[in-house]
Amino acid sequence: MQKKYITTPIYYVNDKPHIGHAYTTIIADLLKKYAEINGISTFLLTGTDENGQKIEQAATMHNTTPQKYADSISAKFRDVWDSFEIDYDKYMRTTDLEHRYGVQKAFEIMYKKGDIYKGEYEGHYCVSCESFFTPTQVIDELYCPDCGKPTSLVKEESYFFALSKYQDRLLKWYKENATCILPLHKRNEVVRFVEEGLQDLSITRTSFEWGISLPKSLNDPKHIVYVWLDALLNYVSALGYGLDYEDAKEALSKLDNKDIKRLPSLESKLELFNNTTHIVGKDILRFHAIYWPAFLMSLDLPLPKQILAHGWWTREGVKMSKSLGNVIDPLEVKEAYGVEALRYFLLKEVPFGQDGDFSELAFKNRINGELSNDLGNLLNRLIGMSEKYFDYSIEGTLEDLKTSFKEELVKIDSIITKLPSLIENVQFHLYLEGIWELLTLANGLITKLAPWTLIKEGRIKECNTFLVLIANILLKTALLLYPILPKSTTKIGESLGVAINATNYKAFIKEKKLQEHFRITKIDALFPKVESLKMQAIESKEITQAKAQNSKEDSKNEDSKKDTLPQSTEGLIDIAEFKKIDIRVGKIVSASEVPKSTKLLKLEVDLNEGRLRQILAGIKESYSPESLVGRQVVVLANLKPAKLMGLSSEGMLLACKDENGLDLLSIENSKVLGAKIS
Ligand code: MSP
Repeated sequence: MQKKYITTPIYYVNDKPHIGHAYTTIIADLLKKYAEINGISTFLLTGTDENGQKIEQAATMHNTTPQKYADSISAKFRDVWDSFEIDYDKYMRTTDLEHRYGVQKAFEIMYKKGDIYKGEYEGHYCVSCESFFTPTQVIDELYCPDCGKPTSLVKEESYFFALSKYQDRLLKWYKENATCILPLHKRNEVVRFVEEGLQDLSITRTSFEWGISLPKSLNDPKHIVYVWLDALLNYVSALGYGLDYEDAKEALSKLDNKDIKRLPSLESKLELFNNTTHIVGKDILRFHAIYWPAFLMSLDLPLPKQILAHGWWTREGVKMSKSLGNVIDPLEVKEAYGVEALRYFLLKEVPFGQDGDFSELAFKNRINGELSNDLGNLLNRLIGMSEKYFDYSIEGTLEDLKTSFKEELVKIDSIITKLPSLIENVQFHLYLEGIWELLTLANGLITKLAPWTLIKEGRIKECNTFLVLIANILLKTALLLYPILPKSTTKIGESLGVAINATNYKAFIKEKKLQEHFRITKIDALFPKVESLKMQAIESKEITQAKAQNSKEDSKNEDSKKDTLPQSTEGLIDIAEFKKIDIRVGKIVSASEVPKSTKLLKLEVDLNEGRLRQILAGIKESYSPESLVGRQVVVLANLKPAKLMGLSSEGMLLACKDENGLDLLSIENSKVLGAKIS
């Protein structure tokens, strides 16, 4: 099986790690663990993005040098991942020398190929997003359309990458690789964005110094490589892309860098390039799904297999930001609830690709309900019963299992069969829901079969076989849950006496085997109940204001600020669909009550069709029949006829209801009957 290369974005070192960063990194780690338990080896890359104006400014603000600043924050990220036991294979820093040479090598190749040319850039630049914008893209002639911060006007000599040249090849790639960007609605946004036309991209800056200089061969020392070109290239420099670069050889030979020694061999490097999964937040999808493949095309390198774009987290409904002071520190969550519970919560709480809210109460409820009750308690019950009735040694033959629990075994297999495709399509929440079906089945069976009664009735063998069934369900659950809860499932495995590893995954999941005998070991509760909230509550005037503001604002509005691509079109209709709706002006000619109905009135409405329509409207509580006659109304005219209280109704009056009651929609000045509303 082909080795898999999994990457997280490299995190900017202008700020400390937060829960959003942890989310991406946890997903990368889970994909690695899922691949490895399936017997596929992987290489997981993470690291920090340390060059560029944003970092230079942050260092100046902290009265230090960019390098010292980068060193301290990069170490913080690494510490968090280490304390989260993220199984990364390489920690990349873009200030590493090997990366510098990778970038210079790539720049030289693109330049020689004619994909890079010199010109002048004039437009807006957002330092916070490290992004260029045209005057028409910025909001109110100044503000960044992505983050809302003020942009600065830049006019400087610049090298450009001929992105427009790659438009057709990109579109072809998206078309031929339907699932190369997930979720699909994000892919569709990317396609639409590219279809609208790509502009060449400014890829060097001259107005600051903190970054990678151009290759010596260009002899143009005032230019610094644009930080996104620099950063994206970490995905290849991490695999040794720059090591053979002429200028690098001597310098690198003097390096005593243990990471360089850990680089995979050239052959496995190429294999990795061919099987890459990039995990990114939706805000940086444009860079990964458009610029990056174009750069790779220019460099004649293989394109990624998949780019997975996740949504953003808010805290208790409010966007996290340094200025609000509500950013969630992953280490605080670890301290309060542990990493395993956090991994579970982040993946279960929100479908991949959608925005999610980190509510501590919701988190606590999931720990107590799902992890503690459904999973932890099931194991406890098994341990307790096996101790009490069978001195920790339970057994039941395959034959007995198959005869006594035929239906249950079929159900278990059918649940498990649908799971791989869910995780492979990044539907982690559904994957977990599926696993929970197994737990619900097991818990339900215990209640139904009541092993304590079986024992009382002397049906010892039956009880023993039943506990073996429960142990098998727990074993399968643990193998399936391993990528999400690596430590807890390893403990479950220890309690059941079966290792949670690829061999057993193959046997018990892929080959559907059952184990006949378990020697159970008592272990501590997996997820003790959480009695009260444990994180420091963050409330301030600004947060209260932000919450109030949020409830007023259309949430889609918020979304569009964070999205670098046009906002999600999920749930929206296009104009063609709207045009199918036929709304017209009509006049009520007669109105009467519908016998026995407290709500309905029977109306005759003139839509200028040469006949009157009978329409039943639920407006009796707000209008008397007399008050309606002669009144102009707005009618949904192409609604399928329906029968209400035995009477037919051909259309619907449009109305609006709030706490002050119901009002019929009307036209400001009277209109010709039958006039169409558009
Ligand atoms: N340095 C660039 C990435 C370069 S990759 C070649 C960058 N860094 S970042 O630190 O700003 O963001 C890194 C990741 O964190 C992004 O994928 C971003 O979506 C994610 N998150 C930042 N805030 C987030 C939330 N509030 N919620 C979820 N993820 C968010 O961009």
